[in-house]
Amino acid sequence: MRRPLDAATVQAVSDAWMKHLVLVFPDQRITDQEHVAFTRHFGDPEIFHQTSLHLRSERAREIFLVSNVDDQNRVMRPSEPSQKQLSSSRMWHTDSSYRPTPSVGSLLHGIEISRTGGITQFINMYMVYDELPESLKRQVEGRKARHDFSMLSRLVGSPPPTEAEKAAMPPVWHPLVRRHPVTHAKSLYVSSIYNDAVEGLEDGPARRLIEELSAFAEQPKYMYRHEWEPHDVLMWDNRCTVHAVTPHDPNERRVMHRTTIVGREPVMAA
Ligand SMILES: [Fe+2]
Repeated sequence: MRRPLDAATVQAVSDAWMKHLVLVFPDQRITDQEHVAFTRHFGDPEIFHQTSLHLRSERAREIFLVSNVDDQNRVMRPSEPSQKQLSSSRMWHTDSSYRPTPSVGSLLHGIEISRTGGITQFINMYMVYDELPESLKRQVEGRKARHDFSMLSRLVGSPPPTEAEKAAMPPVWHPLVRRHPVTHAKSLYVSSIYNDAVEGLEDGPARRLIEELSAFAEQPKYMYRHEWEPHDVLMWDNRCTVHAVTPHDPNERRVMHRTTIVGREPVMAA
């Protein structure tokens, strides 16, 4: 990753990414700057809009901190606001789906990894859509769900976004079944942590539908579970996968740096 990549290599990575959905690059002892530079081959890195919980790195603003260690090198308690918010990543979601043009993909660099849990699990949502029972398929075809960043704080009890953060990221509606802009395949597009409404349903039934879809999706046959080694870099497609991390001992340090690739277009209905 240290030398700039030539166009043929970028294309080869991109092709493998579209085919496999999640790529693993082992033993990448990279700096944040190298991480950001690699990301730029595939699009612009997002700048996380929420600054109140210090989840955005102050040294490299393109880096989102998936970490339980603070600036003073202290392990934070699970009750601290940033940790409460990060705990939502134990539920199935896809990064930045609350944006009008949601993220293309994410790249996560495991700097200090967990040995007691912290396994990142991914689901292939193409396969989930293809095998969805008819009763569920009927409920998602042609329908939209709302994605709201504020839903996070209501779910896990972290501090709500400030008025400015809310104004920067109002709720958006996306199709529950989407078509991938590169592969053109259909996939189910749901998020347990951001979906707070479904077109034409009351709150209770909307929530139950999202949970039912997530429960169907989380079958081992659709899943890849990544057990981290130090300096693995994972690169996943947010348009056709969801992910969730398993819990770990909160006294164990876990430091990961993420870049998130800005989406270029609205979600295409299938
Ligand atoms: Fe995530």
